[in-house]
Amino acid sequence: MAELLRVENLCKDQILNNVSFTIEKGEMVAVMGPSGSGKSTLLYNVAGMDQPSGGSVFLNGEEITKLSEDEKAFFRLHKMGFVFQQMNMMGNLNILDNILLPAVQANRGGKELGKRSRKENRSSKTQLRENAAKLMQKLSISDLAGRSITRVSGGQLQRACICRSMINHPEILFADEPTGALNKSAAAEVMEEFIKLNREGTTILLVTHDSKVASRCSRILYLLDGNICGELKLPKAEGSMEKQREETVNKWLMEMGW
Ligand SMILES: Nc1ncnc2c1ncn2[C@@H]1O[C@H](COP(=O)(O)OP(=O)(O)OP(=O)(O)O)[C@@H](O)[C@H]1O
Ligand SMILES: [Mg+2]
Repeated sequence: MAELLRVENLCKDQILNNVSFTIEKGEMVAVMGPSGSGKSTLLYNVAGMDQPSGGSVFLNGEEITKLSEDEKAFFRLHKMGFVFQQMNMMGNLNILDNILLPAVQANRGGKELGKRSRKENRSSKTQLRENAAKLMQKLSISDLAGRSITRVSGGQLQRACICRSMINHPEILFADEPTGALNKSAAAEVMEEFIKLNREGTTILLVTHDSKVASRCSRILYLLDGNICGELKLPKAEGSMEKQREETVNKWLMEMGW
């Protein structure tokens, strides 16, 4: 497999200390660790949403950490997708318009995103709506397109957030506790969607407290006091092996001091 993301000696004040790892195309990697160990900080610094105090991040060989703010914004909009525990949907827009928002922004281009946002990245409105419809169908929320975000369940809203994160065909999806605000069954449903996207080729880096969620990933990184102090490789997720994978992960987490 080809390398997609490379993180080299990433530092953020006293929070991250020389964190290094790589992610290959098509992987689904979980970051675990105690509260306050720096998981969210790591995700935001890797994704260019925060400015690290040292180190480098490369996506497809291009150094993100060297880019200007405008160029980073371009990168985030076109090459990265984000899903958060707090879903950050716009209250005045319905589900469909929330999903379309990053695509509208990408289409608008304009000077706020720097020179790279040009015509070749623009899609027609029809194409965008078709793409949104496909995504909504895939995540089983087609019938909610015109609904207000206040009139859907937490699990449905998170599935809409996943559609929004995928609308610009990102090369990598970052998720911070995407199932953290959901009940057990909604969390399981949302996790199934991540697995589906991953099977279809989307590379995913997600932070989770949930060993069941992590056990569905291909690799787990354990962060402690701003350092990666352990790594567990798992075979590609297969339904029948679920229990065994969970046991392996729980045993490993105990060894890590979880
Ligand atoms: N904006 C900030 N300014 C200063 N310190 C911060 C900031 N954000 C987080 N921290 C500190 O950095 C450390 C790591 O925080 P971070 O949110 O990355 O942890 P986390 O592993 O994601 O925790 P949790 O599991 O609770 O979400 C904590 O000690 C936190 O208090
Ligand atoms: Mg966090």
